[in-house]
Amino acid sequence: MEDIDIINDITTKIDIEILVNAFYEKVKKDQQISHFFKHVNWKTHMPIMYVFWENVLFYTGSYVGNPMLLHKELHTHMPLSKKDFDQWIHLFHETINENYEGKMAEAMKERANNISIIMQTKILD
Ligand code: HEM
Repeated sequence: MEDIDIINDITTKIDIEILVNAFYEKVKKDQQISHFFKHVNWKTHMPIMYVFWENVLFYTGSYVGNPMLLHKELHTHMPLSKKDFDQWIHLFHETINENYEGKMAEAMKERANNISIIMQTKILD
């Protein structure tokens, strides 16, 4: 029998957790941006990221936080550049493309792009 790989769209919280986990595996190994994450407490950060993306995609209303301020503060002691944001986006898109396909997968990439652009205008300009 032929082996058929079915790639599904993002539909559940578990899908988001799979994506966030796979994304950070890439981030941790990345030459360009891994150093920004050296001091991150993964036990507390991962659940925040799950909730953040669930809120962005499924409008759960469960994320409380201020990513813009957090990255602005990060930038003051570890300067971020456009190249860093481009690499973050590249890894994020790559992770989605490797695991999911469909309307939600496209929406997640688009939302990430938009948030990244807003972040850059608030932080880098
Ligand atoms: C060069 C690009 C980026 C770098 C180096 C970066 C790095 C970081 C770091 C170090 C943290 C703090 C983790 C902690 O200790 O709690 C963080 C938090 C976070 N990042 Fe980024 N980030 C980048 C871009 C983005 C983008 C484009 C998004 C969204 C599309 C994003 C979403 C978040 C969120 C939601 C948090 C958690 C905020 C909270 O704690 O409430 N980041 N990021």
